[in-house]
Amino acid sequence: MSVERLNLAAPRHIAIIMDGNGRWAQQRFLPRAVGHHAGVKAVRKIVELCAADPTCEVLSLFAFSSENWRRPESEVTLLMSLFLTTLQSEIDKLHKNNIRLRFIGDRTAFDEKLQQKMTEGEQKTKNNTALTLVIAANYGGRWDMTLACKIISERVASGELLPQDITERVVNQHLSLADLPEPDLFIRTGGEQRVSNFMLWQLAYTEFYFTPTLWPDFNKSALQEAITSFQSRQRRFGHTGDQIAALATP
Ligand code: IPE
Ligand code: IPE
Ligand code: MG
Repeated sequence: MSVERLNLAAPRHIAIIMDGNGRWAQQRFLPRAVGHHAGVKAVRKIVELCAADPTCEVLSLFAFSSENWRRPESEVTLLMSLFLTTLQSEIDKLHKNNIRLRFIGDRTAFDEKLQQKMTEGEQKTKNNTALTLVIAANYGGRWDMTLACKIISERVASGELLPQDITERVVNQHLSLADLPEPDLFIRTGGEQRVSNFMLWQLAYTEFYFTPTLWPDFNKSALQEAITSFQSRQRRFGHTGDQIAALATP
């Protein structure tokens, strides 16, 4: 792994919607598949950069949304096979680099072989500490919250939990990322300025950064630019700017 380092002072958790693979290929008069392959290369680079920086604890990547099944069957098949081959070639490397792999989303929709690889990747890397790499696959923020509602209502129905005990903390505990810090920085490449059903609950106080750069072109300097933008902002969480400034001065 390269020792290139980012000047990354603050975000503990970076969440990225990796968008623009298709357009990247189309601009070159190439099939969309070529864009998805180029997208995997960009993933490797960004993972490497985040893992090399001690302040970045979690990197979450949106790989396949619960709505992406609506794409032409040939593209869905291609994405599934790319997902599997990428896992086959990367799990050992991630493990060597002390990266913990984690998947969020409804994996029951994937074929058996892919599900096995996902479990294997999680098991093998579960004690690693350099970075937690969260891959959102067949994930949707609404799916996540709906599942939490189901589990909570089962607990209420069984008498284990009282309705008045359902707090934000309890809801959060039933979501996919319960044990991880919420994203500090959200990045969407590809020029669209929307959330597309990604981490709806967890993005409540995340700083948003949109860039027209297409995902396969997203590199170290593009990531650095996003982080620099993040660092120039004042996060207020409902307070006034003066209150936050006072907290920052010893
Ligand atoms: C993102 O790139 C990758 C996935 C959704 C899997 P797109 O495939 O959405 O690329 P565009 O938006 O069509 O350019
Ligand atoms: C969001 O991108 C999902 C992923 C990057 C995996 P899309 O390209 O599917 O989003 P929309 O459809 O343009 O909102
Ligand atoms: Mg897209």
